[in-house]
Amino acid sequence: MNRKRFITTIAASGAGALVGSSLLGKSDAAARLAPSGKWATDNWDQVRSLFPLRSEVTYLNTGGLGPASQPALDRVFEQSQTQARIGEHYHKLLAPARETAAAFFGVNSSEIAFVRNASEGNSVISSGLSLKKGDEVVFESHAHPGGSFAWMNRQKLDGVKVKIFEPSSASSEENLERLFDQVTDRTRVIQVSHITATTGLIFDIPAIAAEAKRRGIWFHVDGAQSAGMIPVNLKELGCDSYATSGHKWLNGPIETGMVYIAAERNDEVACSHIGAYSNDEYELPSTLTYVDSAVRHEYGTRNAASVVGLQTAFELQNQIGRQRIADHGASLSQLVLEELSEVKGLEILSPIDPAMRSSILTFRVPGVDCGTVYNGLSREHKFRTRVVTERGLNGVRASWHVYHQETDARRYADAVRSVVAGL
Ligand SMILES: Cc1ncc(COP(=O)(O)O)c(C=O)c1O
Repeated sequence: MNRKRFITTIAASGAGALVGSSLLGKSDAAARLAPSGKWATDNWDQVRSLFPLRSEVTYLNTGGLGPASQPALDRVFEQSQTQARIGEHYHKLLAPARETAAAFFGVNSSEIAFVRNASEGNSVISSGLSLKKGDEVVFESHAHPGGSFAWMNRQKLDGVKVKIFEPSSASSEENLERLFDQVTDRTRVIQVSHITATTGLIFDIPAIAAEAKRRGIWFHVDGAQSAGMIPVNLKELGCDSYATSGHKWLNGPIETGMVYIAAERNDEVACSHIGAYSNDEYELPSTLTYVDSAVRHEYGTRNAASVVGLQTAFELQNQIGRQRIADHGASLSQLVLEELSEVKGLEILSPIDPAMRSSILTFRVPGVDCGTVYNGLSREHKFRTRVVTERGLNGVRASWHVYHQETDARRYADAVRSVVAGL
């Protein structure tokens, strides 16, 4: 039975709970299923009802973990159950899921490998590129450990030299200048987070890509915070490689992700891990050719159920509208910015320029530990934010996404005002 018919049948029989929707009541399950079998996403109430997120706490940590939607969970459940009944791993489902992912990112499906998380995708690139002692890698000082450790490990293992630059929240030109100030004739790799985990700063990826290309430097983008938050077309961005998680802004199942490698550069990334499905022809003991695509990095038995759950996450985002999602998050973060700009003793750390600002908004209260502010928001007002201790920023971060509305943003601003007044 195909998925559409299956859902329609379930909806008609009112048996939504049987497909893993035990967190939803009957009427909630009906609300998330439009008569056509697609999801109801015309307004943000309908979108919110697609997520089993508890309502007692307002969840503002999508930048850390984006809770899966019920449709994605249902798909994982259905597929896991099928696999358990039949005893097959259903590896064949990775190919159509890859087509969906490729269309989502504007690339060819041969350029995508599914991995377990963004850290693994970043590591595929860092461990696969041919680098010698003294070769240099440059990335921003706000890089998440999932992005920076990949290169610091190569520094430890092979003597590659890691150099960092301080991101500027003032202008993209300044960021270009600061980055390329670190670049020398030994620089082999540039990496930036598309959107930083600390302050939600959006780097000007096409401009960096153009300059990196001109200088013959590999350009890798850590997209953990961008996929699912804003529309991402990788060919338009122009990077050589890109890695992301499925379990943040895409709201896919936990432990999903993908890495993209531009086809023309695929052979420059050696396989650091390998197994069945990495190969084309082989014969023991000496003949082994790789499959002619990035899929060579996707070895051994995979959890097809998680991957098709991620596929559903892509489909749901397509249905909601990717620009609509980006605009919604940005408008809520803008609203909070405007409200908090009035608060005395509070400093906004995210960029003020809307072209550089995203659905993440970070602030700090100078002289007050971010943990104190975090605890006030959490205990007294039931907002789950995230402290930003990286580089001594001492900030509090809120991630605005599809399950939030203007009322949440206004309540949050009120809560911040109240916490700051009580310090
Ligand atoms: C920019 C960035 N890179 C990498 C990661 C690590 O992601 P994952 O846990 O999926 O490996 C994160 C997580 O927050 C991140 O923000």
